[in-house]
Amino acid sequence: MGGRRYVTGNWKMHTSRAEAVALASGVVAQLQQVPAWDPDVVRVGLAPPFPFLEAVRDAVAGHPVELVAQDCHAEPRGAFTGWVSAPMLASVGVRRVIVGHSERRQHAGEDDALVRRKLEAALEAGLDPVVCVGEQLAERDAGRHEAVVEAQARGALEGLDPAAYARVVVAYEPVWAIGTGRTATPEQAGTMHRFIGGLLASFGPQAAGVPVIYGGSVKPDNIDGLARQDGIAGALVGGASLEAGSFVQIVRGVAEQARAGARS
Ligand code: PGA
Repeated sequence: MGGRRYVTGNWKMHTSRAEAVALASGVVAQLQQVPAWDPDVVRVGLAPPFPFLEAVRDAVAGHPVELVAQDCHAEPRGAFTGWVSAPMLASVGVRRVIVGHSERRQHAGEDDALVRRKLEAALEAGLDPVVCVGEQLAERDAGRHEAVVEAQARGALEGLDPAAYARVVVAYEPVWAIGTGRTATPEQAGTMHRFIGGLLASFGPQAAGVPVIYGGSVKPDNIDGLARQDGIAGALVGGASLEAGSFVQIVRGVAEQARAGARS
């Protein structure tokens, strides 16, 4: 499979400031040791907690590593105590923002309509959105995973301005695989990625090119099988992104598959 790949580390509510800087510095140092990595082909992003965005920005300055935020509010400003808006994130150098992560759907009650508004707020502020979709275990067990993911993807992405699709990344993250150590098999993930790809294509020719990355217990030892699947354009990495070595191993896996794919 050709096309650009993405590997983003989602640090969630982890790290102190000092740990965030050390982790970011470790990532940029170790990335230099990955000969297969072409930053134009595999975009690497780090999503630290809000208070450490600027420190991480400074730690990766001069390196082709993108600063990513974990969430944004749907409004650009206002009386919303405790929230952070997309223009605020853009003003500190954030390039991309995750919207609709399952932990926000679950713990902050976010629904598809709100995810859509956040996505539009991000685009408006000049941030490129990473839209998360994914079913819960009970939904998969009931055979409803495609229907659930279809509703989420339609809610977030159907009928966007065609030019906006070039800025969007979709992350398929089965909720039962997040932080559980239970990854989807490469076949399960690949099947869903191809399903999502087909759905996106039905939104229009521009949407057909939206990359779909996989998230959910991605580790150095399972990335090769996942990245080899047609339709998996990279990874959104939680736990394994908190250690520079394992995160960079995942970048290496995606970079090597991108190379192999470009040759075949
Ligand atoms: P995990 O998290 O890699 O720890 O499963 C992935 C995510 O939530 O983005």
